[in-house]
Amino acid sequence: MIRISPSVLAGDFSSLGSESVKMKNSGADYLHLDVMDGHFVPNITFGAPVIKSIRSYTDLVFDVHLMISEPLKYIEDFAKAGSDIITFHFESDSPVGETIDKIRSLGCKTGISLKPATPAEAVFPYLDRLDMVLVMTVEPGFGGQSFMFDMMDKVAAVKEEIERRGLKTDIEVDGGINAETVCVAAKAGANVFVAGSAVFKSEDPAKMIEDLKNNALKSV
Ligand code: DX5
Ligand code: ZN
Repeated sequence: MIRISPSVLAGDFSSLGSESVKMKNSGADYLHLDVMDGHFVPNITFGAPVIKSIRSYTDLVFDVHLMISEPLKYIEDFAKAGSDIITFHFESDSPVGETIDKIRSLGCKTGISLKPATPAEAVFPYLDRLDMVLVMTVEPGFGGQSFMFDMMDKVAAVKEEIERRGLKTDIEVDGGINAETVCVAAKAGANVFVAGSAVFKSEDPAKMIEDLKNNALKSV
């Protein structure tokens, strides 16, 4: 199932409520929320209280991407704020298994994200307990960077292992996704596509979301 997850990182932070409504009306499947702590990545965005305040504006699936050093400490806050999917980084300082258990125990879908230097195999021991694997296609921290084509081998390796085990785990890609790169990522095996700049900087976000979806579909 192809899903488009616009990242509000490229949106107007002074009106995240109406930005989320705009995305829903433009045909987005998820809303991607990039949480950065200025420690795990060299940038700071927002935390659980901001997510909670957007929650009342839309029923879009909240796809929360935690780029923070100690996710385990804050999982409960993010779950209570209304997250549907919580993805944390394998490279964070929290114990991976315990963090997965915590997210699952709170009824949220669980994802692990891999930075560009982390190999696909890192996630294999946890695959059976995950709903999603997020393969970063840029160094996390900032929007508007160029897509790293060399991450496609990693996407393909994760996909192969998912299929070998007969799992239904989603593969998300994040960073530099546009109407062209979405094709490459879909071909490699990704099915959830984060797009910040491509959607929010577009004159017609609904058309861009439709193009992303159609281009992904025809590349599978
Ligand atoms: C980067 C974030 C991305 C970012 C993507 O660290 O995780 O979600 O918003 O932005 P674009 O689509 O502009 O590369
Ligand atoms: Zn992200």
